[in-house]
Amino acid sequence: MITRSYVSKSVQAMRPSGIRRYFDIVATMQDVVSLGIGEPNFVTPEHIMQGGIDSMLRGETGYTSNSGTLALRRAVSAHVERLYGLSYDPEHEILVTVGVSEGLYIALKAILDPGDEVLVVEPCFVANAAAVEMAGGVAVMVETRVEDEFQATGAALEAKITPRTKAILINYPNNPTGAVLTMEHIRQIAGVAERHDLLVLSDEIYERLVYDWEHIAFAALPGMRERTIVMSGMSKAYAMTGWRIGYVMAPAPLLEAMRKLHQYLIMSAPTMGQAAAVEALQAGEPDVAFMVGEYDRRRRLIVDGFNSLGLPCFEPRGAFYAFPSIAATGMSDEQFCETLLHEERVAVIPGSAFGASGAGFVRASYANSDENIERALERMARFMRNHG
Ligand SMILES: Cc1ncc(COP(=O)(O)O)c(C=O)c1O
Repeated sequence: MITRSYVSKSVQAMRPSGIRRYFDIVATMQDVVSLGIGEPNFVTPEHIMQGGIDSMLRGETGYTSNSGTLALRRAVSAHVERLYGLSYDPEHEILVTVGVSEGLYIALKAILDPGDEVLVVEPCFVANAAAVEMAGGVAVMVETRVEDEFQATGAALEAKITPRTKAILINYPNNPTGAVLTMEHIRQIAGVAERHDLLVLSDEIYERLVYDWEHIAFAALPGMRERTIVMSGMSKAYAMTGWRIGYVMAPAPLLEAMRKLHQYLIMSAPTMGQAAAVEALQAGEPDVAFMVGEYDRRRRLIVDGFNSLGLPCFEPRGAFYAFPSIAATGMSDEQFCETLLHEERVAVIPGSAFGASGAGFVRASYANSDENIERALERMARFMRNHG
């Protein structure tokens, strides 16, 4: 009989994502208002879908070049040049991936020897530490604090450096906090990278979703392009999570290593998705502007709502998550989420699922309809009257 003992020890040792557990519970319940899911509640804009459909109808249903279509790599190159003045060669410095999910894994796999350490700034995307481990490295978590607006300080990073440290993994705008990186902190991180000769893996998947804020591309900082692997993609800003298209940008020797892995692992990213991504990058600006406006309005609704319920909420300037403190209830974040789910049928995610410094907070996604946000706030008001 096949038992668990057949599963490799390394996979047995991996902890399941703290997010999944909640979705499994939610799936068994009725009438739940879920603020748990981390994806746009818009469908992909029609002209972008049409880009994918047209490509299929032209018969483009086979593999593409391993690196992705040249058309898409050129579109990415023009896009980052226009936004940040960054210049990446489409032939040698850009690779189309199956989302940042793949980009993250191949970036880590390309740079880590067994036992190499990566400083992972948290709270962070649930896959980060697991991806480091899957790539054979050791994830060294670097905690942030709400007092520092959940930004990594140079001192906190430096305190965790050892002779095995190879890279720093950052994600701004951040999932789960909505934090963005100020120039002061970005300079601190760059300084640490330079002093200790580290690579920086910068997950900028939420770069377009910023409010009263201008995103600073990490690679645009003086001296940083040569030591940065940029990971981004179409999922969030263009409401294209299901199309599975992302990209990595890096100096040629690093990109070549990632391409080798990508070629054996994936072959090529989805062909119709690549065609849709070209349309998105070339003609999707009005859609991004519209969705950002909508998210911004909902952001105000939810942040003001949490503050007035006695759940002080850090001001998120990016992504589509609010991250209020639930300390006033006296509950742990896990207790809060489970009790809220069972008593009021509202799903939010415990902050500790994203790292130790998320304890005492919960993540609520406002990529949701106004109606759902309002219903969730009404139910939470009742919950706070009973537990506040
Ligand atoms: C910070 C972060 N990075 C990466 C991803 C994965 O994105 P993709 O759809 O491009 O694989 C997510 C998805 O939630 C995310 O929040």
